[in-house]
Amino acid sequence: MSVGSLLVADLVIAVLAAAGWLGGGAASAARRRRPALGLAAFALLTTVARAVTITALARAGWWFAAEKVLIAAPLSVAAVVVAGPRLLRAPADIRSAAVPLLFAGYAEVGALLVTVLHGYPVSAGVGLLAVAGVVTATGVTWRVLGARPSGTVSRTAVAVAVAALVTGTGLVVTPAAAPAVPHRHDDAAAGAVGEPTRRFTLTAGTATVGVSGRNVAAWAFNGQVPGPELTATVGDVLEVTLRNRDIGRGVTLHWHGYDVPNSQDGVPGMTQDAVLPGQEFVYRFRADQVGTYWYHTHAVSDVGVRMGLYGVLLVRPAPATGGASASTDGADATTATGVDVTVPVHTLAGVPLPESRTEPVAAGTPVRLRLINTDSTTHRYALAGTPFRVAAIDGYDLRGPTPLADTAVLIPAGGRYDLVFTAPATPVALFVDGRAVYSTGAVSAETRAWPVLDPLTYGAAAPAPWSRVDREFTLVLDRGLDLRGLLPRYAHTVNGAADPDIPPQVVRQGEVVGFTIVNRSLFVHPWHLHGHHVLVLSRNGRPVTGSPLWLDSFDVLPGDVWKVAFLADNPGTWANHCHNLPHADAGMMLHLMYS
Ligand code: C2O
Ligand code: CU
Repeated sequence: MSVGSLLVADLVIAVLAAAGWLGGGAASAARRRRPALGLAAFALLTTVARAVTITALARAGWWFAAEKVLIAAPLSVAAVVVAGPRLLRAPADIRSAAVPLLFAGYAEVGALLVTVLHGYPVSAGVGLLAVAGVVTATGVTWRVLGARPSGTVSRTAVAVAVAALVTGTGLVVTPAAAPAVPHRHDDAAAGAVGEPTRRFTLTAGTATVGVSGRNVAAWAFNGQVPGPELTATVGDVLEVTLRNRDIGRGVTLHWHGYDVPNSQDGVPGMTQDAVLPGQEFVYRFRADQVGTYWYHTHAVSDVGVRMGLYGVLLVRPAPATGGASASTDGADATTATGVDVTVPVHTLAGVPLPESRTEPVAAGTPVRLRLINTDSTTHRYALAGTPFRVAAIDGYDLRGPTPLADTAVLIPAGGRYDLVFTAPATPVALFVDGRAVYSTGAVSAETRAWPVLDPLTYGAAAPAPWSRVDREFTLVLDRGLDLRGLLPRYAHTVNGAADPDIPPQVVRQGEVVGFTIVNRSLFVHPWHLHGHHVLVLSRNGRPVTGSPLWLDSFDVLPGDVWKVAFLADNPGTWANHCHNLPHADAGMMLHLMYS
């Protein structure tokens, strides 16, 4: 059983146990003997069964089980010790069992709330608050049901509840000043890249665009979704002028996966101010990485990207024979080396893009499909009708990619895969989530049952470029209350806090930095560090056995533990976030900075 399924199973069992005790308690308060005994027996079994899931989770990693072992388990033991004997004695007056059964229910609910509201990092404060809640609820129940506890018992209960509440609140509400992340506006690097050789202007504005035969309201670059495809040859100096016509909340350009100097990274409030209506900003950087990338606004990025402010950035290798650098300009260029097709997948107003198209290709022609996922969730891509290789992921060539057939690939939010093949005499088709988006002729294929490629085992291994890690960070991804801000809010959290309350990660130039990324939530989190590609070391304890994988976007599934490393070679302050953009907006964003 995967750790993700264990997390789900444990949650379901905890809910059942809580419901069983509460139901049993309510039934016995109503003097309904049979249902009371039945529900309580069920609750007893599920409470005991939870020991199995908690133990399994603890073995998978302490991050997954800390609060369950330290808070849920003691509360469950208390529940069993208090309610179990009552149940076994099955008293003639079933109503006398109501308070113990309800106590057990409150204990299970308290433990459940800890996991759901603030499970990580586990803290004494949260545990004490749970105890205070359980004792208070039990005391109130006692009074309401008119079962008279002795004066000593009620005084003790009140004292315990008050002490736990006061201490717990004191421990939880520790005033933590929002960490200061410097906002740099350092334009020094921009001037230093030399004379521009490729110039573009992108004007952001509201627009009405036609998709699949209907008009939808969008935000567009130069009136089109996606925006213009920006192409360059390695070595070019790009100069991109961004203008904002009427996007009230501002725009920027972030070069997703392109490790530009910090001042050109396009993060508002961090590397520049958002470009407001009527304003402009000029980006300038040297194209020194070949490959498939994309650009998008980083101002209110959740809404902005979804509405259409994105486009493709393509950097081709220098021509082998030393021709002019601009010769491969244009989308889907048919060059001497073959057919090059970009497939930026997006969902605009509920309509999947790009629209399906068919273009015959002569047999024997080399074809490169550049698959880009610009949505916030994973897409499944399947190429039917030909064997193919995955030549590159996230712009970096893979080592020794072998031919694949009838195999799907999953591309995380923000990620890119380049698939290459030689056109056969028969048609081929690319399906995205079962929908044909590109084909060279009619193909009928059922691709949904195909196995999915695991990039960690694909291609030929090579030794890591470093044998050391100088600094390590652990990022535990969860859902819960961020208690560090002024007002608690339910967020997507990293180490129990949400943006802007997550302490920045500070590194020194030249260090090899390791990240352990742990997902204890029930959501997929596509992780994205700006300014650097990370080398994947292992996933769930299994090291990479295939080609070295240099990624800028990777899906951390529920229960996953990824270990990655990168060289701190690009100074500045960088966003480090989940690329499910609503999650980033709901707190899952922190910053990496150089000291
Ligand atoms: Cu493509 Cu910070 O994002
Ligand atoms: Cu996420």
